[in-house]
Amino acid sequence: MWCSGRCSSACFRTMPLLTSTLWTSWGTCSAACRQPSSTTECPQGPGPPPCTASGAAQTSAPSRRPRPPQNWTAETIQDMGPFLALFSGDELSSVATKFPDILQQTASEMAGTSPPQEFLWAVFESVRNGSERGPSADPSPGCLGVGAPSSDDIFRLAEANACWAPEALLCMGEDVFLRNVELLGAVRGFGPPQLTALKEKAVQVWDAPSHWREHHILSLGRIALAFNERELGQLGLSAIDTVASLSQQTEWTPGQAKSILRGFLEDSGSRIQDLKSFHLVGLGATLCAMNATEISLIRVSEFRAVVARIGTLVCSTDVLAEFKKKAEAVFGNPAEWSSSVLQELGTIAAGLTKEELRMLDKDLMPYFQPSAIRCLPDEIFKELSAEQIAALGPENAAAVTPAQRRQLGVWQLQSLQRALDGDKPRAWQDAALSARPPRTPLARAPPGVSASGGLWLGCSLPVLMLQLLR
Ligand SMILES: *[C@@H]1O[C@H](CO)[C@@H](O)[C@H](O)[C@H]1NC(C)=O
Ligand SMILES: *[C@@H]1O[C@H](CO)[C@@H](O)[C@H](O)[C@H]1NC(C)=O
Ligand SMILES: *[C@@H]1O[C@H](CO)[C@@H](O)[C@H](O)[C@H]1NC(C)=O
Repeated sequence: MWCSGRCSSACFRTMPLLTSTLWTSWGTCSAACRQPSSTTECPQGPGPPPCTASGAAQTSAPSRRPRPPQNWTAETIQDMGPFLALFSGDELSSVATKFPDILQQTASEMAGTSPPQEFLWAVFESVRNGSERGPSADPSPGCLGVGAPSSDDIFRLAEANACWAPEALLCMGEDVFLRNVELLGAVRGFGPPQLTALKEKAVQVWDAPSHWREHHILSLGRIALAFNERELGQLGLSAIDTVASLSQQTEWTPGQAKSILRGFLEDSGSRIQDLKSFHLVGLGATLCAMNATEISLIRVSEFRAVVARIGTLVCSTDVLAEFKKKAEAVFGNPAEWSSSVLQELGTIAAGLTKEELRMLDKDLMPYFQPSAIRCLPDEIFKELSAEQIAALGPENAAAVTPAQRRQLGVWQLQSLQRALDGDKPRAWQDAALSARPPRTPLARAPPGVSASGGLWLGCSLPVLMLQLLR
């Protein structure tokens, strides 16, 4: 919600704090705003594109800036911090030539974010330029002359590891893989060919997946995404911690998620009706792979204990509708839901039918979570009255997707604009916010699950912006 399409006022407000002299032009601000993909599709789309050389050639960022970077001192560049990531490829290559250490330092501080390709490529080139490249550690014929990553490279590249060719990853030495598998599994920019290469490396080093121990699976991170349904079925998934580590990934296909769910149920000998609340938490996004029959078997008391967590999952509408039925078993008829129920339900509220949605009092509208608004199917969203839309509040109004907007009539669009502008008396918004109940305490989670913020982040978090604004 920070930046969607046009430059948001939030963006303007934060820019001057850090770099008042540099970020003066509209063009620069909108480039900054474009960086995080702030509106993730519902359900989630594929991960970020892999890093490619062509990314370096694109100079999408407008370069109307007061002074060219060639002229900046090391101190200035250092002060830029993560804003360096917003430079164009040309500018970055001059920074890389003059200040490779600062560039690499900045990159390592940005681990866990998804910087633009130009930045990753500049870091990659810079690290590779600086590292001594001996012959490949792997003597197999396909690896002759391939510049495989060293441990030092991997450590220094952080997210810029996304620029390795799959062949280079496959030719990495076994010791390098063993020492760095967790770092590599955390790289967000790897695409399917790179993840597949890493999976093959893992099989080379650790033997077939059916032999793997729990700690192997826990160290995989995104590499696990390269496993097909059959291979996932071979993993030993009897421990909910293992499943919880897999379900931290948000990019599973429905088929893969189903394999993980089945694997857990079979390996642990559990039935759906046996699942405790902490199992539900650990299963996370794989719950989205349940069918209607299975969801109906979840115990209401266990569901009740973790409903707020389940309400962070971005499942398909059909599945959300089944969870909504489950919520009726807990909270009664939707016509009687209170603001706190609606808020606790999160995305589950997107499972409401047209009729139920139409019956909601407009005063409840601000209590939808933005993720729920995004997940409402277009043809259901358009059933909201103009009054209901006007009452959404700015945050929810900003979550309305272009596709939902296209379905709206003229009055509804005007209401939406009013909600976006927040031009109602401030009083009701403040009252609504302060009236929001504290979050329901989360149910007991097994070790390793409670600390994993990523599992529950839901639809959209513009990570880069959050990092930038820290
Ligand atoms: C920036 O470059 C210009 C022209 O090359 C030079 O005259 C000026 O002194 C430089 N400024 C700084 C701060 O280095
Ligand atoms: C790589 O090194 C060469 C020569 O050492 C230098 O000319 C070039 O600018 C460097 N490239 C980068 C991206 O650092
Ligand atoms: C739901 O999944 C279970 C387990 O795979 C299967 O036995 C059942 O037939 C499915 N039910 C429906 C309605 O698809």
